[in-house]
Amino acid sequence: MAERKLFIKTYGCQMNVYDSERMAEAMGVQGYVTTDRADDADLILLNTCHIREKAAEKVYSELGRLKELKLANPQLKIGVAGCVAQAEGAEIMRRQPAVDLVVGPQSYHRLPEMEAKVRKGAKSQETEFPEEDKFDHLAARPKAVRGPTAFLTVQEGCDKFCAFCVVPYTRGAEMSRPADRILTEARDLVERGVREITLLGQNVNAYNGHDAGLAGLIGALAKIDGLARIRYTTSHPNDMDAALIAAHGGCDKLMPYLHLPVQSGSDRILKAMNRKHTAETYLRLVERIRAARPDILLSGDFIVGFPGEAEADFEATMELVREVNYGQAYSFKYSSRPGTPAAEREQVAEDAKSDRLARLQALLSRQQHAAQEAMIGREVDVLFEKPGRLTNQMVGKSGYLHAVHVTGSGAVPGDIARIRILRSEANSLAGEALA
Ligand code: 5AD
Ligand code: SF4
Repeated sequence: MAERKLFIKTYGCQMNVYDSERMAEAMGVQGYVTTDRADDADLILLNTCHIREKAAEKVYSELGRLKELKLANPQLKIGVAGCVAQAEGAEIMRRQPAVDLVVGPQSYHRLPEMEAKVRKGAKSQETEFPEEDKFDHLAARPKAVRGPTAFLTVQEGCDKFCAFCVVPYTRGAEMSRPADRILTEARDLVERGVREITLLGQNVNAYNGHDAGLAGLIGALAKIDGLARIRYTTSHPNDMDAALIAAHGGCDKLMPYLHLPVQSGSDRILKAMNRKHTAETYLRLVERIRAARPDILLSGDFIVGFPGEAEADFEATMELVREVNYGQAYSFKYSSRPGTPAAEREQVAEDAKSDRLARLQALLSRQQHAAQEAMIGREVDVLFEKPGRLTNQMVGKSGYLHAVHVTGSGAVPGDIARIRILRSEANSLAGEALA
């Protein structure tokens, strides 16, 4: 049988990046090789994101373009995976008849049989939340050598039900993978050249597949020889337990970077968002984390223009940002999502949202640049990942997740080297190797 080609386009979060890798591997067992050209593919999968309206709309415009490819290649099959598939499965098939299959995030292990079905000319849709764990049924990961950093999903789903968020509906209830499976997968990744693993979960710090929670899992992973760095994302403030905070002080392999979304600095809005914490409890938590690891770089997520947000509420968010001082951040205008509680409420005017977002982003970007500037003159360990744009240049990440580029060091991907930071540039740092 001739080799078939698979093109996957990934939208949204890192969990989708991990899922896309696993889908490519599962289809690899069926004889598919990946291609980076849609017009060369026999199977196209869009791994989609439903978190904001814009993300979901992109999928329909991309499908509109892709359907033209079917005219040139009648063998081409098109599939939609991910959270838009989960949320709007039947609607996708109706709006875009060129789509052959729709597969929700919990059903990726069914992809090979679904593909066989669509090859015969049928349509296929799987958007249930099956009893079995997809990771147990997905093809084992191949042994090929890979780059020095990897994502590893350890937890999926969310039970928090923030009033703006579709995740509890698209990804379902919280589920943790057993620690022994994760450790086996991590050891395999390290054998294949991986030196840094980022543990992923929609609520990763609610992980309970190890008796001692996420801190216990991190401790067990830290014992793997050859694994140099551990990170995790994304966390809810209420799930930062004492052991996890302590790990930031006690575990050398756990990197000094933490993404800890707060969304708003106004208690009134936090309550309306159903966040189940206040600005004050968040600030005290940040203090405890910084007591354990004073140099930790904090990152956050913010939503402006949540229904009911008045100027004073927004000011409270600005005040919280000034108090925390973030090294990195992601901020968004509230986007009304069908089926979520906040979608029914009275909305903030679009121009107020735009104005607040601009002011918040200006503040966050000043803080980000100040954090970069503060690195100048410091020595940091950099894990090199790939060649840079210039000759003899390599790019990697510091423990603080800053991109660092170095010229003429002789380093190869996977090396960790001591680097002195020389300059701060737009979104990266320039450094030199220490002799
Ligand atoms: N509108 C805007 N931003 C949202 N997020 C989640 N849902 C929405 C929404 N409806 C943001 C939150 C979350 C991040 C992943 O996306 O800040 O932490
Ligand atoms: Fe969404 Fe809130 Fe769950 Fe995060 S914690 S995935 S924002 S519902």
